[in-house]
Amino acid sequence: MSDAYVPTPDDHFTFGLWTVGNRGRDPFGHETRPPLDPVDAVHRLADLGAYGVNFHDDDLVPPGSSGAEREAILKRFRRALDDTGMKVPMATTNLFSQPVFKDGAFTANDPAVRRHALRKTIDAIDLGAELGAGVYVMWGGREGMECDAAKDIRLALDRYAEAVNACCAYVRDRGYDLVLAIEPKPNEPRGDLFLPTVGHALAFIGELEYPEMVGLNPEFAHETMSGLSFHHAVAQTLWHDKLFHIDLNAQRIGKYDQDFRFGSEGVQDAFYLVKLLEDARWPGMRHFDAHAYRTESVEGVWEFARGCMRTYLILKEKVARFHADPEIAAAVRDAQAARLAEPTLSEGATPEAFAALRSETVDIDGLAAQGYGHERLDQLVTELLLGAR
Ligand code: GCO
Ligand code: MN
Ligand code: MN
Repeated sequence: MSDAYVPTPDDHFTFGLWTVGNRGRDPFGHETRPPLDPVDAVHRLADLGAYGVNFHDDDLVPPGSSGAEREAILKRFRRALDDTGMKVPMATTNLFSQPVFKDGAFTANDPAVRRHALRKTIDAIDLGAELGAGVYVMWGGREGMECDAAKDIRLALDRYAEAVNACCAYVRDRGYDLVLAIEPKPNEPRGDLFLPTVGHALAFIGELEYPEMVGLNPEFAHETMSGLSFHHAVAQTLWHDKLFHIDLNAQRIGKYDQDFRFGSEGVQDAFYLVKLLEDARWPGMRHFDAHAYRTESVEGVWEFARGCMRTYLILKEKVARFHADPEIAAAVRDAQAARLAEPTLSEGATPEAFAALRSETVDIDGLAAQGYGHERLDQLVTELLLGAR
């Protein structure tokens, strides 16, 4: 396609091997697509204009592979990266698929399981660092509970923090240029997961030993599952300087983790998210953690991948139009949006400032009577997104 929405590596789009490699299995039905060779994934994504691929340890090297098999796999994979120029900006560990993790990984009650999880993680950190990853994502897929009688949640958080601290110590000891990004999720596959939202995870980071090394990997679907605004969650993450990575997809409130193609649900939310990232000139990877509908054939997977990137670029163009549109600018002025940057106490929180507050005469009725023009502004944005302006 030769239009303005064809991505290039400069757009910094990445996909997980597990995303385009998703075979359409769900809790009720078997796989509908054949396995995808990671080397083919690298080539197809490069052809589509992506910047890189990310993977869990097991996505690339199947569990149980011998040392020689591992080396052969890595050699082929590295060659594909070299041939295409594709990068591996993020690495992660699968601590959820194998039965050994059924009671959790870092928060399993049995210390032997926890030690195995940590060992698997530091191996994956080594592999990621070797391939040039700058971010290591921690999604605690099995860190949670159904039977609350069997686990003390405060102890589980102690062990979770211990594991994150240990990973930071390992990264420091090895001298890797790597930061950790925690990915919150409210539930699924566990009844309740620990660190369920961006807010919980941000508070948790404040209690860690190396908080400067740990940030977040918020996901569109996960905050939306909780009925929260992903745009607000990402904005607060940016405010804390903790946006280390991001998982883009689409989701309807109140449903299972749908992981749909970016922008296929919640277009307005997706627009404000793209606006936030672009206005902030956030330098990170635009990573798609989504998968094609189960109905799709192999070709449908590449339609899906192309669609994620195109929608991002279309929304990015809408952001530029938003900023260039004089009527929208006037409506933003009517909303007094820029005035929020003015400090409330410009003179500082001094005794004089409090005295000045008390001596002010406020036209409360006048302030209460003013309109902010949000109906008009919101309609203008809606029309922009619908292509009517
Ligand atoms: C999910 C998660 C995962 C993680 C991935 C990276 O709900 O399954 O979003 O896809 O993002 O494991 O750590
Ligand atoms: Mn998810
Ligand atoms: Mn994710």
